[in-house]
Amino acid sequence: MPDGAHIADIADVPDVGSYLFTAEDAFTNEQELILVRCDDEPGIEGWVNNCTHENQRLDRGAGAAMRDGEIICPKHGSMFDACSGECDNGEAAGTTLPSVEITVADGSAFLTDDNYTYLHDGGVGDDDPSSTSHISF
Ligand code: FES
Repeated sequence: MPDGAHIADIADVPDVGSYLFTAEDAFTNEQELILVRCDDEPGIEGWVNNCTHENQRLDRGAGAAMRDGEIICPKHGSMFDACSGECDNGEAAGTTLPSVEITVADGSAFLTDDNYTYLHDGGVGDDDPSSTSHISF
């Protein structure tokens, strides 16, 4: 069992889309992160839930748009490789999503990045019952 916090069971990460969760960064800011499936081992990668071009969430609460193994920015449509985080197209061309270290073990994904402390699933504010940003289905 890895040292990091349990984020999700692998089965909970959608085949097309993303699993959104929130962690605290080294500056005690709440930061949204995502898990996505990728064809390379270990089959799941973790990324910061923000486009590198502008301050735009990739997963706005209902899963990131994805196509052919790439995460699509909802604002200007740049596409990021789900395995490498690299973008070679559109406004964000030449950039790479900041990665988040995760470990896959025992059918689950664990947050093993020293820069982040796991807080909760969902986006920033989704743990607050008075928040109106939480969308339920
Ligand atoms: S904000 Fe993502 S490509 Fe512009």
